[in-house]
Amino acid sequence: THVVTEQCVHCKFAECITYCPVACFREAGTFLVIDPDECIDCGNCVEACPADAIYPEDELPPELMPALEWNSRLSAELPLATTRVVPLPDGEEWRGKPDKWASLPT
Ligand code: F3S
Repeated sequence: THVVTEQCVHCKFAECITYCPVACFREAGTFLVIDPDECIDCGNCVEACPADAIYPEDELPPELMPALEWNSRLSAELPLATTRVVPLPDGEEWRGKPDKWASLPT
């Protein structure tokens, strides 16, 4: 599977959804996740993301490994992300910032 990491948080540029040939993205308020049961590993979303937020599972850097569990768990709870997802207005200001998971409510 592919995995959305914390670089998506507060950015949610939504480019990835357009390039996904299946329905694997799920939407939270400030980020997306990928449903590992739906992802076909095409990799189209990796290049599409302006925040470099998406990795193949086997190339996840150690510090971003928690994203694997997030994507799996949250995709069971969150609604399908459609191409109607609206990118966050201040997404550009958050691009590349560290420790964005920590800024989320628990
Ligand atoms: Fe997030 Fe990148 Fe998609 S910022 S919404 S994974 S294009």
